Amino acid sequence: MRIDELPVRKGRGREEFFVKRELVIVLDFGGQYNQLVARRVRECNVYCEIYSYKTNIEKIKAMNPKGIILTGGPNSCYEPGAPTYSSELFNLGVPVLGLCYGAQLMMQVLGGTVARAGVREYGKTEVLLDKTQSKIFKNVQEKTICWMSHFDSIFKAAPGFEITAHTADCPVAAAENEEKGLYAIQFHPEVLHTEEGTKMLSNFVKNVCGCSGDWRMDSFVEESIRQIRKRVGDGKVLCALSGGVDSSVAAVLLSKAVGEQLTCVFVDHGLLRKNEGDEVEAVFGPAGSYDLNFIRVNAQQRFYGKLAGVSEPERKRKIIGEEFIRVFEEEAKKIGTVDFLVQGTIYPDVVESGLGGESAVIKSHHNVGGLPDYVDFKEIIEPLRDLFKDEVRKAGLELGIPEYLVYRQPFPGPGLGVRIIGEVTAEKVRIVQDADAIYREEIEHAGLSRNIGQYFAALTNMQSVGVMGDERTYDYAVALRAVNTIDFMTAEAADIPYEVLQKVMSRIINEVKGVNRVLYDLTSKPPGTIELE
Ligand code: XMP
Repeated sequence: MRIDELPVRKGRGREEFFVKRELVIVLDFGGQYNQLVARRVRECNVYCEIYSYKTNIEKIKAMNPKGIILTGGPNSCYEPGAPTYSSELFNLGVPVLGLCYGAQLMMQVLGGTVARAGVREYGKTEVLLDKTQSKIFKNVQEKTICWMSHFDSIFKAAPGFEITAHTADCPVAAAENEEKGLYAIQFHPEVLHTEEGTKMLSNFVKNVCGCSGDWRMDSFVEESIRQIRKRVGDGKVLCALSGGVDSSVAAVLLSKAVGEQLTCVFVDHGLLRKNEGDEVEAVFGPAGSYDLNFIRVNAQQRFYGKLAGVSEPERKRKIIGEEFIRVFEEEAKKIGTVDFLVQGTIYPDVVESGLGGESAVIKSHHNVGGLPDYVDFKEIIEPLRDLFKDEVRKAGLELGIPEYLVYRQPFPGPGLGVRIIGEVTAEKVRIVQDADAIYREEIEHAGLSRNIGQYFAALTNMQSVGVMGDERTYDYAVALRAVNTIDFMTAEAADIPYEVLQKVMSRIINEVKGVNRVLYDLTSKPPGTIELE
């Protein structure tokens, strides 16, 4: 079957997977914090999924949610064409919590008044509770700091609602109709600046919706293993293992479920970090502790050959991606017919590809390989498609995967290919690998590794004159990159102590042949990107 004929992201198998679980639905109205809302709910050990506000009421009913949360959004609910929902949603007998835009919409739809406020309320704001016994404010202080971000305000709560909190500028910071289980909150409890926000969300899902809070990683792992076994039967499973967090967790999960029936193909494209291929093999290969039918393909020379003479970044990415697929296909063909192909898709990928929520930007699929164009298989298994990255990590630890693998930094699919500006050669790969290894060693030594989002050495294509001993040199400049970031969409250069940088510089110059200059890249993203190409 061709990959493009498959309804890959339609969540096949999902219904049977999670049918018995308590579910809270987040209806996304385009707010920037939609994923955060879902994460916070899951932090309360309540399972939660994001859907677009366009989701049909029948579908919502069929999912039998314990509660519904309406997110914020950039629109004004009284404007024509603004995202909305019919009043039926509030009469399902299911508790609903509206946040910011969601709160305004709830009021508007149920007969309250929303209009542009005189002042925009933005940032940390003191909220004063008017009803401290509100179920949603249980154990919340009477004066509490919350994160506000709104132009519009609720001026009159809908009939049947009582005002439960206000601020100096906002007469209705929260309102509720306890009897119907409807709660409206103008601020953002999902943002950590709202000091007691998680408590409020926990109050909603537990005290109001009655969720028991039993969603845990150990139960996820157990349940997934059971379901994968049922689904796979005695079928054959193939997985492309990169050694990155998602594919490693997916592979180990599959291996625990179906053991021998799984084959993992690891393509070493020669653009990995120093010793990485061997490290991956040590963990997942025959000498490691997993039963994976691990196949390592040493395709280094093949990739270098294809990359010879190519310096245009997009072209390089394309070549690496395409070659990866070819190598993977060749291996798959050797195995013969495969019933299932494993993909390490995680929940943000699902949401960002536009099938979950509303606000999602479509992320260009830049992973090496992505999916093979043609591999003879019947179905795709995406065991992690409901998990956030931190949950994938927890599942990894639960499965006994070593911490250093579970907490790995992101590494681009095209590997060092996008950390070497210009043409990629084996010599340049050696230089950047050695420089990067020194850099990582020193950052770890200085105890900084957990505080920096991502750091690596890259090779600029610049050669310049230097002097070593009495000799004139004409060598490369290595660029050190280190960024702090929350979502990798924006980033700032990390503030690394000067002594550490100096030590790294001096070791690279002394130990890595071919380098006579070391630069620290101070550029933030935007305007830069994290990788150099
Ligand atoms: P940029 O360079 O776009 O990187 O600021 C943002 C994040 O994505 C990673 N990255 C990639 N990851 N394949 C990947 O799997 C790629 O082609 C790729 N390009 C960038 C990058 O390391 C950073 O974490």
